[in-house]
Amino acid sequence: MEKSIPLFSFYLSLLLILFLYPSPSLGEDDNSVYVSFLQCVTNHTNSPDQVSNIVFAQSNVSFSSVLRNYIRNARFNISSTPKPLIIVTPLQESHVQATVICAKAIGVQLKIRSGGHDYEGISYVFDEPFIILDMFNLRKIIVDIENEVAVVQVGATLGEVYYSIWEKSKVHGFPAGVCPTVGVGGHLSGGGYGNMLRKYGLSVDQIIDAEIVDVNGKLLNKESMGEDLFWAIRGGGGASFAVIISYTVKLVPVPEIVTYFRVEKTLEENATDLVVQWQQVAPNTDDRLFMRLLLQPVTSKVKKGEATIRASVVALFLGRADEVVSILEKDFPLLGLKKETCVESSWIDSVLWWGNFDNETKPEALLDRDLDSANFLKRKSDYAQNPISKDGLEWIWKKMIELGKTGLVFNPYGGKMWEIPADATPFPHRAGNLFKIQYSVNWKDPEETKNFTTQARRLYSYMTPFVSKNPRSAFLNYRDLDIGVNEFGENSFDEGKVYGEKYFNGNFQRLVKIKSAVDPENFFRNEQSIPVYPGKN
Ligand SMILES: Cc1cc2nc3c(=O)[nH]c(=O)nc-3n(C[C@H](O)[C@H](O)[C@H](O)COP(=O)(O)OP(=O)(O)OC[C@H]3O[C@@H](n4cnc5c(N)ncnc54)[C@H](O)[C@@H]3O)c2cc1C
Ligand SMILES: *[C@@H]1O[C@H](CO)[C@@H](O)[C@H](O)[C@H]1NC(C)=O
Ligand SMILES: *[C@@H]1O[C@H](CO)[C@@H](O)[C@H](O)[C@H]1NC(C)=O
Ligand SMILES: *[C@@H]1O[C@H](CO)[C@@H](O)[C@H](O)[C@H]1NC(C)=O
Ligand SMILES: *[C@@H]1O[C@H](CO)[C@@H](O)[C@H](O)[C@H]1NC(C)=O
Ligand SMILES: *[C@@H]1O[C@H](CO)[C@@H](O)[C@H](O)[C@H]1NC(C)=O
Ligand SMILES: *[C@@H]1O[C@H](CO)[C@@H](O)[C@H](O)[C@H]1NC(C)=O
Repeated sequence: MEKSIPLFSFYLSLLLILFLYPSPSLGEDDNSVYVSFLQCVTNHTNSPDQVSNIVFAQSNVSFSSVLRNYIRNARFNISSTPKPLIIVTPLQESHVQATVICAKAIGVQLKIRSGGHDYEGISYVFDEPFIILDMFNLRKIIVDIENEVAVVQVGATLGEVYYSIWEKSKVHGFPAGVCPTVGVGGHLSGGGYGNMLRKYGLSVDQIIDAEIVDVNGKLLNKESMGEDLFWAIRGGGGASFAVIISYTVKLVPVPEIVTYFRVEKTLEENATDLVVQWQQVAPNTDDRLFMRLLLQPVTSKVKKGEATIRASVVALFLGRADEVVSILEKDFPLLGLKKETCVESSWIDSVLWWGNFDNETKPEALLDRDLDSANFLKRKSDYAQNPISKDGLEWIWKKMIELGKTGLVFNPYGGKMWEIPADATPFPHRAGNLFKIQYSVNWKDPEETKNFTTQARRLYSYMTPFVSKNPRSAFLNYRDLDIGVNEFGENSFDEGKVYGEKYFNGNFQRLVKIKSAVDPENFFRNEQSIPVYPGKN
């Protein structure tokens, strides 16, 4: 029942399109779609001479390298991965406006890609004919230190954002993810967090304006889009609502010298007790201190050949080493942190360290986009609202060792995360959450995909007793199609409610209301987009 409604309106709009554009449409050969799309885009931009440089047909020699440049999960770099009919690489706003208008006009789905880091590849893969709107050229960053703001276009990477801030000031930063190649477009529209979240919250908590192109091809800012839509695109996922062109963000202060460290312990070194204490300390300690906990099955060095669990505490402190050592001597004695283990550095050098560069690397490395390079990976997420007991942890270690490879990452909340109301932005996981869990597994051989995706799902299933319930919450930016797959890519309301409530809890209904108002035909859709009210479509 629910499914027939969107399908009906889909056919209705197809009919309308056939009527308005008697020439090629779906079902005809790719080249004719290309020709009519190109003509439409040319007609709808104020720079028609540029159009021939930004529209790539499948037959174009550069097509596959443009496509592959921002594939960030090798699972979607195989011959059976569906390819777009066309890739558009806009150089200015009007190209984006024309692309939205023309994709709609010829009845082809649009996938919006900024940095391409979506864990399920939904910015560049789809089961129906589709066009990729690839935003990588729109990457301007304007940093205004006097007013402590920056205007950042969506095609910029986080590394470029950090670098641009550092060029202008050594005492400003921005709270966002630790992987420098992640794109601003998906990251900021989907919530975005990094190692300053306990002090400054999420990236979305610092957004003060945005420029977007709506479903009608109109260019809007905070004022003209209205309060509701501006709320939605700060964590609700841009791709359900509009094409984001840029965000204006507040910068945050960082000290001239920060401290980072890593401490590792295996089960033989009492890692379990460490994790018990970590759960008490990490979400409650000084909010300048972020201590990520990585849990990984590894081979024991002590008992040769046997498997164990390694717990690694990886930390950033917005202050000096002496201070963090004295805080943790008192609060977290089992960590045994020594001053010699700590490294004091500038904030930008801590960014490089967190990005896994060695300590001789210069900040310019943050500008390296590392194109066309990816691992095979699967991620899932959970929220822990209660500490896991020692018995519980020991049982989890056993399961992790049995499974063999999938790791867990615990990211502590607290601080600012607990102060911001759950409905201030679409991101709802605030007070009451001790830490977020990421399930993480990487591999190199396409033959092993089934093995490792199954492994991650099993561990997720074992974790059920220890994590949030009703709904079992998840983080939008750790996209996971297991939690509400829609085989039609059309998303009926009921299916949308399943993943929607996991990602957005009590904010889901407001997102549906906004979606139904700004995109009633559900043009901006994907496997996990915000559905429109039944009857609206
Ligand atoms: C290696 C790696 C490390 C990561 N580390 C972190 C981390 O530290 N913290 C964290 O919070 N997350 C992290 N993530 C997750 C990351 O934040 C999300 O995958 C994010 O959505 C990526 O943004 P993108 O622009 O690179 O991705 P894309 O794949 O381009 O986009 C992701 C989603 O946003 C939509 N979208 C993209 N651009 C626009 C736009 N301009 N307008 C409207 N919709 C748009 C896409 O259609 C898609 O649905 C990481 C991911 C990877 C692969
Ligand atoms: C584009 O404009 C030309 C000239 O104005 C017109 O003939 C043509 O039908 C238009 N095509 C599309 C797809 O809008
Ligand atoms: C491929 O497409 C690009 C972008 O539109 C264009 O600049 C280039 O000329 C095309 N190359 C060929 C061989 O058609
Ligand atoms: C682990 O804990 C036990 C019991 O508290 C203690 O005797 C032992 O020394 C600890 N081992 C290490 C490596 O810290
Ligand atoms: C980098 O680390 C090595 C060893 O950890 C150290 O000897 C070296 O001095 C460090 N270099 C810089 C520039 O900090
Ligand atoms: C995609 O696969 C090709 C080989 O077929 C490889 O050269 C390229 O590096 C891969 N790119 C990504 C992003 O996985
Ligand atoms: C799956 O992965 C595990 C862990 O690495 C490995 O032991 C096992 O042999 C793999 N199985 C297959 C079928 O590849």
